[in-house]
Amino acid sequence: MSKTKSAFFCQSCGYESAKWSGKCPSCNQWNTFVEEVVVKGNDKKEKDEWKEYSGDRKVKTISINEVSSAEEKRIITNDGELNRVLGGGIVMGSIVLVAGEPGIGKSTLFLQIGLQLNDIVTLYISGEESEQQVKMRADRVGAKSENFYLLTETNTQTIFQEIKKLKPQLVIVDSIQTLQSPFVESGSGSVSQIRECAAELQRFAKETNTPVFLIGHITKDGNIAGPKILEHMVDTVLQFEGDRHYAYRILRTLKNRFGSTAELGIYEMTGEGMRAVSNPSEILITQKEEQLSGIAIAATIEGMRPLLIEGQALVTQSVYGTPQRTVSGFDLRRLQLLLAVLEKRGGFHFGVKDVFVNIAGGLKVEDPSIDLAIVCALLSSYEDVPINQHYCFAGEVGLSGEIRAVNRIEQRIAEAEKLGFEKIIVSKYNAKSLGKLKFNIEVVPLAKVEELYQYLF
Ligand code: TYD
Ligand code: MG
Repeated sequence: MSKTKSAFFCQSCGYESAKWSGKCPSCNQWNTFVEEVVVKGNDKKEKDEWKEYSGDRKVKTISINEVSSAEEKRIITNDGELNRVLGGGIVMGSIVLVAGEPGIGKSTLFLQIGLQLNDIVTLYISGEESEQQVKMRADRVGAKSENFYLLTETNTQTIFQEIKKLKPQLVIVDSIQTLQSPFVESGSGSVSQIRECAAELQRFAKETNTPVFLIGHITKDGNIAGPKILEHMVDTVLQFEGDRHYAYRILRTLKNRFGSTAELGIYEMTGEGMRAVSNPSEILITQKEEQLSGIAIAATIEGMRPLLIEGQALVTQSVYGTPQRTVSGFDLRRLQLLLAVLEKRGGFHFGVKDVFVNIAGGLKVEDPSIDLAIVCALLSSYEDVPINQHYCFAGEVGLSGEIRAVNRIEQRIAEAEKLGFEKIIVSKYNAKSLGKLKFNIEVVPLAKVEELYQYLF
């Protein structure tokens, strides 16, 4: 017999408490406690439906030296970008959380990945969409697999029964927020449900060595909906992000027990599903016939990859008393700082101008090395003189107008060289570290923004 019990859960961090309190002692948020009914079956652990499937696992303490240090076995997917962010393919028995805003394309991407895995028995569990909806989407992405199975079910134990029959080699759950465990009474999407369902799936993944992907939603403030504890339970957390109005999507690793977190995959949403973008720089730079003012190319590094990105600026006479500053993909405060530097060090009168800055392709760039390109785009628009389209820039701009060194300059230069640029403007301090390295691109070292102005205009 099971006994009904209720507990209070912090909706922000998942902290469990026997009584209500105004402030969560764990994450210090106010008013986050909600009562949830929890039924705890005493023999729950023995009841997991997939138990027979895996057979008994032996519990034994062993010395670290007895553990064979073979590489983890991985499933290599057809999707090079996913392999890269996971650190070289899907690790057997790993549990991966994929988070993203609604409508960003999580279901599309993972349906597509499953359909492309022809030799792997894949089970796609959809708690959000009907079989017809998934089928329509599958027709749209155009991939076909004999080994792809679909289950529209939300009860975890029913799911495990089906899993026992099918014995899939890969399980995709869309989404974790829709699942419901019969061992916990509260509604699906609540903290205790998410925690219990994830725990059941985690035990399943570890004990049967089957990789599991959990698709999860993100709340308005950008956090993964559900308790933080979910992020601790899984092996890998991937975030799928991008602006819904643009075609580009970025799959970023936030946590990875089997690889680096500095990896990143780029996709393009097309009419036929997601397309992996293997040469992002070539796409992000607009091909143009004539030279336009207000455009400068930055050699940035996103994750581990060099990426050439186009920065655009428009500087116009201000019609209203307060000049406007508008940014897209760039930090507004950073722009204000750069304008103040130009005003003070270069004597440019941006105070009476409206300034608009945009990063092409709807990307958000955090790498400070884009500063130099933005400064050039601003000056180019201010003077209405185009910058040679075969030039690119990599440098951070300091408060006194100095051009500061950036990391991994060799990689940036190599990428610019590969894309056929003729000159790359870098910090003088970076140039020193390059020493005798030879490139087929001219490396122009500059120390100050004033020198840059003289060099370009
Ligand atoms: P979806 O995968 O349902 O997003 P999520 O699961 O993250 O909520 O994707 C939804 C959007 O993607 C929808 O607005 C339509 C668009 N889309 C395409 O542009 N091309 C396609 O081939 C598909 C299947 C969807
Ligand atoms: Mg979806």
